[in-house]
Amino acid sequence: MTPQGMVVLISGGGTNLQAIIDGVESGAISQPIAAVISNKADAKGLARASRAGIPAVILDHTAFGDRAHYDAALAELIHRFDPKLVVLAGFMRILSADFVAQFEGRMINIHPALLPEFKGLHTHERAIAEGATRHGATVHFVTAALDDGPNIIQATLSVTSSDTPDTLATRVLALEHQIFPMAIEWFLQNNICMKDNRCYLNGLCLDANGYHLENGTP
Ligand code: GAR
Repeated sequence: MTPQGMVVLISGGGTNLQAIIDGVESGAISQPIAAVISNKADAKGLARASRAGIPAVILDHTAFGDRAHYDAALAELIHRFDPKLVVLAGFMRILSADFVAQFEGRMINIHPALLPEFKGLHTHERAIAEGATRHGATVHFVTAALDDGPNIIQATLSVTSSDTPDTLATRVLALEHQIFPMAIEWFLQNNICMKDNRCYLNGLCLDANGYHLENGTP
């Protein structure tokens, strides 16, 4: 059988997962979520999956001795669902190179910053501390390096003098919910692919930023 649909990995609240569920339910995303996997038992996103009738699986990283064993179990679990696409929706774990190699070219991540700026954690605090005037979110293909890999799409906003890390988080999250379903559907429709460490959209090589939305508009 040809791989179908998605497996979505989460660690927390799952608002991006919810945007994907909503996209599937509205028809904006054309293939189903086969399973949601969380490395944390208390991730609120698990209830979102269950409410939508999607298998929700906990694979607790603290039950494994090291990263290699966890990642091997995670890969085995994902393969069981045979997805076309693996979606990291707030999955807050570093992935080993062996794991990434198994899904390279068909695993995407969302990050709350304009990569390559502000890789890692606390992106909104750091953007404000550094006086950034523009900020946003990025969807990118996952490669072995953390928050690296070719950008697919970015959405930017202007940082105002009244922004705090919390207001920025809220504003950026709204952009995330807009661009993640778009990138997912592009992949499921075979409109995008990763080649030579760049993203191609409809056969055209995108620049390093990926496709670009300014304040939510192309
Ligand atoms: C999102 O802001 C996502 O970009 C971020 O975690 C949050 C998850 O929120 N991911 C990363 O920082 C990955 N480097 P959610 O659980 O409500 O979707």
